[in-house]
Amino acid sequence: MTLTWFITGASSGLGLALAKTALAKGDKVIGTSRESSRLAEIVSQGAIPLTFNSSDSPQVINSIISDVFKKHGPIDVVVNNAGYGEIGIFEEIDYPTIENQYQVNVFAPIKVLQGFLPYLRSQKSGLIINVGSVAAFGSDPISGIYGSTKAAIKKLSASIDSEVKEFGIRVIVVEPGPFRTPIVKNYSEQGVFKDRSTIKDYDESRKMVDMFFSHINQASGDPNRFGKALVKLAHREEEFKESIPCVLALGEYTYERKNGVFADELEEMKKYKNVTFSTDNPDM
Ligand SMILES: NC(=O)c1ccc[n+]([C@@H]2O[C@H](COP(=O)([O-])OP(=O)(O)OC[C@H]3O[C@@H](n4cnc5c(N)ncnc54)[C@H](OP(=O)(O)O)[C@@H]3O)[C@@H](O)[C@H]2O)c1
Repeated sequence: MTLTWFITGASSGLGLALAKTALAKGDKVIGTSRESSRLAEIVSQGAIPLTFNSSDSPQVINSIISDVFKKHGPIDVVVNNAGYGEIGIFEEIDYPTIENQYQVNVFAPIKVLQGFLPYLRSQKSGLIINVGSVAAFGSDPISGIYGSTKAAIKKLSASIDSEVKEFGIRVIVVEPGPFRTPIVKNYSEQGVFKDRSTIKDYDESRKMVDMFFSHINQASGDPNRFGKALVKLAHREEEFKESIPCVLALGEYTYERKNGVFADELEEMKKYKNVTFSTDNPDM
């Protein structure tokens, strides 16, 4: 069966690899970028380019989606992939920067979800894949802003999935660990991290930011394998024949990290069980 994909941020990294894998499978791909010339590589392989800016208003995005359905509908798989990671010490990141991170990583996917769902409900099918991150877990420093956007996407996905399952639609989240993509180079070029004020008290913690940047090129995740896993999932092959997960961890790092974080949380919850129960009304 041939699927039609709508992939945001298909110009680079995970989105690019996914688009290429889907095209190689014989699927149809509509790939987005803020600058359509960046989509040349997938266009040469048969993709349909679409200029799409996550900061556009819901009205603009709805009208783009309406055009997509008129020209290419029905759409089988929507991937909310476009995004970047605002890494740094919370106190040192100014408010407009935080707002932009939420705009791109949370509000844009919300606009895409609200734009697509009416069409998917009327076609009574569809799979929406939101790209989360391992950064949504745990208490690591320097990832509070980025990680919180991905935690928001995870919660949203799970709740919306429960609301739309009965219409033949699934909304799931995939959680990559570190993958070897140009993400750091790309957002450095956009001017992120430039002119950031520094607070001396955080000099030691800030070293983690440099460590993060120096390690990303040796990240364990392979974008092509990310593409293969998602294409397999969308085509309901092998492990996905019977069912697909609400949340799919990608990469051994994510698997181990989630295991550790969940175990610690459970242990802590149990440790304070008496206090937890003590806040209920005694007549309960
Ligand atoms: N790489 C990792 O280690 C990793 C791990 C976990 C999660 N993720 C998530 O995976 C997704 C893809 O990341 P990647 O590693 O593939 O990064 P990438 O190579 O930098 O690609 C990011 C894509 O998102 C789009 N994008 C970037 N900033 C944008 C903005 N301000 N507004 C709209 N679109 C923007 C870009 O499109 P244009 O610039 O062409 O518009 C580009 O196609 C992101 O959501 C990221 O948070 C990545």
